[in-house]
Amino acid sequence: MTLDMDTPALLRKFPRVATLNDGQQVTIRPLHPDDDTALHQFFLRVPEEDRFYLNNDVTAPEVIQEFTDNISLDVAIPLVAVSGDKIIADSTLHRSRRASRRHVGELRIVVDPEYRGRGLGARLIDELIQLGVDLGLERVVFELVDRREMPAIQAAKAAGFEEVAVLEGRVRDMYGIMQDLVILELPLEEEDPPHLDF
Ligand SMILES: CC(C)(COP(=O)(O)OP(=O)(O)OC[C@H]1O[C@@H](n2cnc3c(N)ncnc32)[C@H](O)[C@@H]1OP(=O)(O)O)[C@@H](O)C(=O)NCCC(=O)NCCS
Repeated sequence: MTLDMDTPALLRKFPRVATLNDGQQVTIRPLHPDDDTALHQFFLRVPEEDRFYLNNDVTAPEVIQEFTDNISLDVAIPLVAVSGDKIIADSTLHRSRRASRRHVGELRIVVDPEYRGRGLGARLIDELIQLGVDLGLERVVFELVDRREMPAIQAAKAAGFEEVAVLEGRVRDMYGIMQDLVILELPLEEEDPPHLDF
């Protein structure tokens, strides 16, 4: 695989069916430009204490419209899980535009509260890790808020991520209390290592 493999080619394996722990089947697929309403409705179902730590105000329809109108796969590959017409999870593999940092991907993931604890988060983490491998990334990371994003920290550790740094007091939580930012990393195996002559 080469770094910067043709991203649309990478997405040809979708849509994919995921079977949750209780047997329910849902679909995992890339976000579409016409998902704006469903994505907005999804984020309105996410509790404020989870939304507070996201990068954007996802309750604002114009913010969601911006996401769906400007899908730029070289910066963020968005995968959603859907059940019928409903989006039930949103997840992204982000990459820096800076050449010096394009070998690292950052994962972000939010599951509808009604669908949590059924294996969907773990499945999406696996899908994003595999996209990272297919893109030739060297590592993927999560940046999570200690004490406030504990299920995500546990899910990352269950997927093989290891805590590599703790930035003390980096985040002010929704109660105004300073919390640590936990950086978790997973090095990715090169499937087909290049042969280098020196
Ligand atoms: C983190 C999150 C995505 C997990 O999704 P999920 O579908 O519930 O996860 P899964 O059911 O696949 O569980 C995967 C692992 O996560 C951990 N986990 C999930 N929920 C947990 C909880 N409430 N407490 C502790 N660990 C938990 C477990 O290790 C679990 O593995 P196990 O079932 O084998 O024990 C979900 O809780 C969420 O959307 N949280 C809010 C958003 C967030 O914090 N995102 C991270 C920032 S981008």
